[in-house]
Order: sequence, then structure tokens, then C-alpha cells
Amino acid sequence: MFRMKSMRSFMFLICPVMVLVFFYYSSGRLQLRNSVQKSQADLDSLLSVGRVVASVYDKQGFLLKLDKKLPLELQYKYGNISKGECKQGYAQAKMTLIYPKFSKPAPMFLDPNYKRLSKISSYLPPFGVRTQERIIDNILTATRSYSLGSELDSISCKKCIIIGNGGILFNKSLGTKIDQYDVVVRLNEAPVAGFEKDVGSKTTMRITYPEGAIQRAERYEKSSLFVLSAFKANDFKWLRHMVYKDRLWRMDGFWKSVARTVPRAPQDMRILNPYFIQEASFRLIGLPHNNGLMGRGNIPTLGTVAITMALHNCDEVAVAGFGYDMNTPHAPLHYYEKLRMSAIKESWTHNISREKEFLRKLVKAGVIEDLTHGI
Ligand SMILES: *[C@@H]1O[C@H](CO)[C@@H](O)[C@H](O)[C@H]1NC(C)=O
Ligand SMILES: *[C@@H]1O[C@H](CO)[C@@H](O)[C@H](O)[C@H]1NC(C)=O
Ligand SMILES: *[C@@H]1O[C@H](CO)[C@@H](O)[C@H](O)[C@H]1NC(C)=O
Repeated sequence: MFRMKSMRSFMFLICPVMVLVFFYYSSGRLQLRNSVQKSQADLDSLLSVGRVVASVYDKQGFLLKLDKKLPLELQYKYGNISKGECKQGYAQAKMTLIYPKFSKPAPMFLDPNYKRLSKISSYLPPFGVRTQERIIDNILTATRSYSLGSELDSISCKKCIIIGNGGILFNKSLGTKIDQYDVVVRLNEAPVAGFEKDVGSKTTMRITYPEGAIQRAERYEKSSLFVLSAFKANDFKWLRHMVYKDRLWRMDGFWKSVARTVPRAPQDMRILNPYFIQEASFRLIGLPHNNGLMGRGNIPTLGTVAITMALHNCDEVAVAGFGYDMNTPHAPLHYYEKLRMSAIKESWTHNISREKEFLRKLVKAGVIEDLTHGI
């Protein structure tokens, strides 16, 4: 009897305790869930911040909102420089602004210490020098010159212009303006003689690959650097022949006939740093990496390679004669011949439209100036 009573009172006692425990426990869970919810909310807001950050830049890492306006710190630096005067570091500063991954140091040409350039040592041509070291060493031993030359090396601010071969240059009378640049870069066989009014008469360097090189010695200008941009292993071998003036007997391995001699002394020959092909393709344009090998649509055109070189090595960069307009098939393809736009087919190696997107960013942000407005 006594037991029953104590049991009942025990139950009376225990029930409220259990209720309390239940409340305590569930409120704890509630709190727990609250805090889980809270941290989830934190995470969400973090993610959305992440999303905002991500959406400021495009897939390649370029600012999405591009305009020519200078931010305050650059206004202060460049705002007072009178028109026409060279703005030191300008191209790099603007490039870094729209593409923070940009890192300037990348020499124009290979020199005997090129093996220090780790980015090119692990890639095969055209993106690097792997397997070609012996031939390159051999070439560089003979050329013994690895820069623009003492006169240009000594100026502290260089304005460069890359002359594309586009028909858009025709009859624009830009020759005088072009000649005012410190460094005038021409590509492949683009002629000067007879076209001076439109394309100028100065040539600092001519960047070519074997199939694009001028074949008749008399068509070369009196002096300019002859710069090889190698797209395949055979191209280095070809340059070695040109440097040593060995007659080139076998012509296989090229996709069209190539020059058999180049009327330049070895000291006027250079090898363009292949890093510019690599960077333009994989980083700036975002073409397929293809395990670092040449593949469908992953080779930038020579013009874009030259512009990439200039971004790293010039204080100001301008271009003229760039831009194909696929919508006007009857426009001339080149300023110097009658070939029409319709003659170029969608190419296997290049991706012209992707490349144009990249060049448009540079023009839109004022990193480069496009004198013929074709980009
Ligand atoms: C630019 O010019 C303004 C007015 O002429 C002057 O106040 C300013 O200090 C100058 N800035 C630089 C960087 O020289
Ligand atoms: C070149 O431009 C001038 C005007 O600047 C024009 O008179 C002339 O007809 C043009 N020539 C050709 C071949 O288009
Ligand atoms: C060029 O790039 C676009 C978009 O990435 C792709 O759809 C197209 O197939 C590419 N063209 C070539 C020739 O690789």
C-alpha cells in the first residue's frame, strides 16, 4: 500500500520532470536547428557574395564591365600627360585592371638563358621549346643578339604598333602616323614598297613563320629584324638553315613552299618567345588546352600572338589592319592583293571568332588602340 502511494507520487513527480526534460530537449534541438539554419543562411550569403565576385569576371578572368574610363589612381598618373607623349607602363596598367592575372615579365625573344623560362620548357612547339633545345642553342650561338637593339633598348617608354594585313588598311593614309611609333611590327609577307602612304615605311621587325616569309630577297626592306614565330618543330630547323645560310634541300614538312634564303645577317635574326602563343591560346582567348598539344582550333593567329608580345614589352600598344568582316565577303582580304574575304574558309587551326572576342575586350577597355576600327 505504502509502495503504491509512493509510486504514484513518484509518477506525479516524474511526469513534470519528463515534460520539462522534453521541453528542454526540444528547445535545445530547436536552438540547434536554429543555429544550423543560421549557419546555412551565412553560407548562402557567402555563396551569393561568391557568385557576385565570380560574375564580375568572365570565364577567362577578364572584367565583364569594360570601359575606357581610367580609375582615379591612373587618372592621377596619366591624366596630365599631353596627347602624343608616351605613357610609361600604360598598356600593362590597363591590362592588369581588366585582367588581374596578367603578369608582365616575358621577354620578347629567346636568349641563351631561355631555359629559365619554366612556362615554355614543358611544352612542345608551338606552345614551348621542349625537344627543340639543341637546335635553339645552336641558332642562338650564331645570332648572338637577343634584343631590339641598343637604340630601342635605351628608350624608357616605347610605343608599338602591330600592322595587320587586313584590307581595312587600304586607302586610309595612315602611313605617316604609323611611322611615328617607336616599334613597327609587320607580319609575314606584308609588303611596304609601293604601299607607304597607307602602311608607312618603317619596319622594326617582321614576325613570320616559314610558310609566311617573303620568298624573294628583293622584296625585303633594307633593314629590320627577322623574327621567327615557330608553330612546329620543323620551323626551328628551317631557321637554322636561314641563319647558317645552308641551302634548304628538302622542303617537306611545310604546308606550302617556303623561303630558301632570308637576306639578313644572323645578328638580325630572332626567335619569338613561344610563351606568347601559349598565353594567347590557353589563357587570354581560352582555346582548348588539348593536353598542351596543337589541336583543332587552338592556335592563335600571328597577329594576336604579336599583340600579346606587345602587351608584355611595350608601354603603349596600337594596331592597324586588323579585323575580318565575314559579313562582307567581297571586301579585300589583304591590303596588298586582290584576294576577297570569301577566300578564307573556317580554319581548322584558328578560332577567328573566339579570338575576335578577346581583341574586342582589349579595344573596348582601351588597352590597345585600333587605328582602323576593324576589331
Ligand atoms: C595634374 O594637373 C593638375 C592641374 O593642372 C594638378 O593639380 C595635379 O597635381 C597634376 N597631377 C600630376 C600627377 O602631376
Ligand atoms: C581613296 O580615298 C580617296 C579619298 O580619301 C578617294 O578619292 C579615292 O577614290 C580612294 N581610292 C580608292 C581606290 O578607293
Ligand atoms: C570556336 O569556338 C567555339 C566556342 O568555343 C566553338 O563552338 C567552335 O567549334 C570553335 N571553332 C573551332 C574551329 O574550333
